[in-house]
Amino acid sequence: MTTPSPSPYPSAAALARDPTALAARLAAIEPEAAARPGDVRVVHAPGRVNLIGEHTDYNEGYVLPVAIDLGIAIALVPTDDGVVRLTLAETGETGEFDPAAVGARQGGWIDYVAGIAWAMAAAGLGPRGFRGVLASDLPQGAGLSSSAALEVVSAWALSGGERPTVDPMRLVHLVQRGENGYIGLNNGIMDQFASIFGETGRALLLDCRTLEHRSIPMADDDVALVACHSGSPRRLESSAYNERRSQCEAAVAVIAETVPGVTALRDVTPVMLEAARPRMDPVVAARAEHIVYENERVLAAIAAFEAGDLATVGRLFYESHASMRDLFGISSPELDALVEIARATPGVIGARLTGAGFGGCTINLVRRDAVPALREAVLREYPGRTGLTPRVFEVAASAGARRLA
Ligand code: GLA
Repeated sequence: MTTPSPSPYPSAAALARDPTALAARLAAIEPEAAARPGDVRVVHAPGRVNLIGEHTDYNEGYVLPVAIDLGIAIALVPTDDGVVRLTLAETGETGEFDPAAVGARQGGWIDYVAGIAWAMAAAGLGPRGFRGVLASDLPQGAGLSSSAALEVVSAWALSGGERPTVDPMRLVHLVQRGENGYIGLNNGIMDQFASIFGETGRALLLDCRTLEHRSIPMADDDVALVACHSGSPRRLESSAYNERRSQCEAAVAVIAETVPGVTALRDVTPVMLEAARPRMDPVVAARAEHIVYENERVLAAIAAFEAGDLATVGRLFYESHASMRDLFGISSPELDALVEIARATPGVIGARLTGAGFGGCTINLVRRDAVPALREAVLREYPGRTGLTPRVFEVAASAGARRLA
């Protein structure tokens, strides 16, 4: 009998949770870190799920994300030699660039790091070099904001492994600028906000127009947050995402012809929308309808959470999913199947796709004692319905980006 040879890269997911082991990995591959052990830092940024309020952020509306206990860690030793060199713990692949003179995109994960250096340099923040090693326990392409986690942890790494010396909300916008301007995805601020502002045990309500925010205690200990990964990678073609954004802007333009002062779908009421509908492309009207009612659903969900009325929260989750499926056009047969299986499982309070859509995960609010039943139902029914293998995992509301060591 032969035994498989051990991987040269023992579980990177475990390294993401173990700062001492990650620092040791860095010392093993970077002489600079071995020579200056006292200067090694370990920084971490989490991914997120969004409870409700999808595609509302760039329409100046409301979102309710939760930073989760899965994320990306970098062990690094800062340098002032104009070189960032970062190695993936999982594969050994290395990316490199000059943080003060970021050139064209290279076409890979290192671009997300370089984009932040580019945005920091433009803001006069003087990104520093470093030698680093990165480990992640956040699934990629799952709609859990692995891009934002990579960008936010990079901002810390490029700041010498310390909290960037800029107001946290400015940092949110700086990170967004890196993604919009360098990567070319015109996303909103929800993901970066969640990764920076996350709080243990709490969801984060953000008004994306006024930037006012407050945290909301997550229901109670009897309720779990469960992510179900469809196993179909998130086909977030920037083009499909950017197209939704343009359609929302087109709706605003039509409504503003007759209603002065409307600058975003945030300003639009159901009455205004119905008055303008005859002059609108039907697809554009459907997109706008999703946003107008989704904003209302976020506020209703907050009230229901605060009143302990989980039945209403659950109903709002299902309504939100149906709206994303039928009006905003960002669901998929796989995500719909996951929501249907969850809905038929006793003890599941609510389920909906989370994040940009086009694949990825659903988020489920589940009575804790029903988590095994949901897992069993998904594992039993989903492969037969879709030909894909799902992953079901509980997530916990966690702290935002921080230095671990
Ligand atoms: C992605 C974007 C966010 C937000 C969501 C949809 O995660 O990065 O800004 O628009 O999609 O709610």
